[in-house]
Amino acid sequence: MSKSIFRKKSVSKILSDVASGFSDSEHPGSTSQLQKALNVKDLTLMGIAAVVGAGIFSTIGEASFNGGPGVTLLFVLTAITCGFSAMCYAEFASRIPVAGSAYTYAYASFGELIAWIIGWDLLMEYAIGNIAVAISWSEYFVNLLEGFKIHLPAWVTLDYFSAFTAHEKIQELTASGHTADITDRMRLAAEAWATAPGSGSFKFIANIPALLIVIIITYLVYVGIRETKKATNAMVYLKIGVVLAVILIGFFYITPANWHPFLPNGFGGVMKGVSGVFFAYIGFDAISTTAEECQNPQRDLPKGMIYSLIICTVLYILIALVLTGMVNYKDLQVGDPLAYVFAKVGLNNISYVISVSAVVATASVLLIFQLGQPRIWMSMSRDGLLPKAFSRIHPKFHTPSFATVVTGFVVAIPALFLNLTEVTNLTSIGTLFAFVLVCGGVLLLPREEAVRGRFRLPYINSQFIVPILFIAGIVIFWGKVMNLISGENVHERFPYFLFIILSATLTVLSFVKKLSLIPVLGLLSCFYLMAELEYQSWIRFLAWLIIGLVIYFTYGYKNSVLGKQTS
Ligand code: ALA
Repeated sequence: MSKSIFRKKSVSKILSDVASGFSDSEHPGSTSQLQKALNVKDLTLMGIAAVVGAGIFSTIGEASFNGGPGVTLLFVLTAITCGFSAMCYAEFASRIPVAGSAYTYAYASFGELIAWIIGWDLLMEYAIGNIAVAISWSEYFVNLLEGFKIHLPAWVTLDYFSAFTAHEKIQELTASGHTADITDRMRLAAEAWATAPGSGSFKFIANIPALLIVIIITYLVYVGIRETKKATNAMVYLKIGVVLAVILIGFFYITPANWHPFLPNGFGGVMKGVSGVFFAYIGFDAISTTAEECQNPQRDLPKGMIYSLIICTVLYILIALVLTGMVNYKDLQVGDPLAYVFAKVGLNNISYVISVSAVVATASVLLIFQLGQPRIWMSMSRDGLLPKAFSRIHPKFHTPSFATVVTGFVVAIPALFLNLTEVTNLTSIGTLFAFVLVCGGVLLLPREEAVRGRFRLPYINSQFIVPILFIAGIVIFWGKVMNLISGENVHERFPYFLFIILSATLTVLSFVKKLSLIPVLGLLSCFYLMAELEYQSWIRFLAWLIIGLVIYFTYGYKNSVLGKQTS
């Protein structure tokens, strides 16, 4: 048995396994092939379905409040980062058109341990990300019901922690005489605390709409890819229509004075929004999990990813400009900023339509991520890193049935109890890490001749470009670098130190090995965004990885199919 934790699965082996339908004795129950129903248009729409959601309808508010109109720059910066990563995903998707996304790619390039880490990490993007989306969906849905004069008890509409914090905060503000700072959101959350069943600090407070939407979406994903596709396409047309309407109508209500100053809180204020803005872009990569359900994955997956990213980038930059142009950025610290700005300029009907669309938009994100997670587990199970049940395909619906149901539980239960901001931060750091491994993985792939009809990442020599960028960065940001080592809590800046060390290492490697420029820039930009995330998120992320490693060494390592085959 190959004892190495870095044992690799060759690309030809991965492809031949899929071609044989995993019909060997190692995979009982997974003999049925998935249905090949998706073309490039479906994939682009699916990409948009996964991207446009809670981020642009919700987390953009807080990011604009912190960054002012300059948040637009962050949308550009994040789009560039995602663009490099999308090209690397596209390269992998064209070479290894197998469900499993970055997990499968890592297995081929870095070997089993890193593949496991990435598979474990993708749980953060898909399942944890979906918890965030379900919570955000619930917020819009509850607002929508209010519009129909249906009032749910507050304690079934949010999580315990938010209710408790709001209760404490209101008490504090009241005691210090700052009652004017109490927001409607805080009041609602505190109402949940006051009215919830239970006593003392033992109270039942749970987000029931979030639970229900996850159950409905899981059912849809369980019954089939065709049904999912139809539902997705319809939802996407609606949300693109609404986003375009916001841009076009909002354009006429822009007051250019709101764009001055462009950076009211400096670049630091803009960068506070990294997690929220990056969250808005997550999703284009999720379509790579449907590789085995595409008619021509090697041609269509790269196109689908890149087209959807380009469309979303254009829409997002315009939305950010319109939003910060319509009202003062200080007004944007709300959970439903798009609906809010229209109500603010007196267009209440449009505001209402936006709220309805947000419910639909976020539901479609849920759908795609709920579709992606089981397919990653399915791939991991085929490799023996997870129990066999995870790769079982439903005989009638042709979907990974067991893995889909488990995903439902993993998302639905925490959605009842977790807080949105915490979950968004975790999702962003986890996804950036996945992007890092995908960009790094491309650097390890052997060069291949271009094949007609398949995507190929253009090779640009990084030998001089990266060192020049590195030196320019050091010269321009010298003051900032020096600030890192002064003041208190220096340990909390370790993500920046890590970024500097990794950048220096990549610079040397680029110079010596003439690495391909696009993946190197992808690595640098993802590292940079990661460094801008909070210290707390890093600690939680590292804890998550440690739990994953314990599971690998106690289960995956011993049961690995590759380990047994190479014995
Ligand atoms: N990009 C997805 C959203 O914003 C995750 O909901």
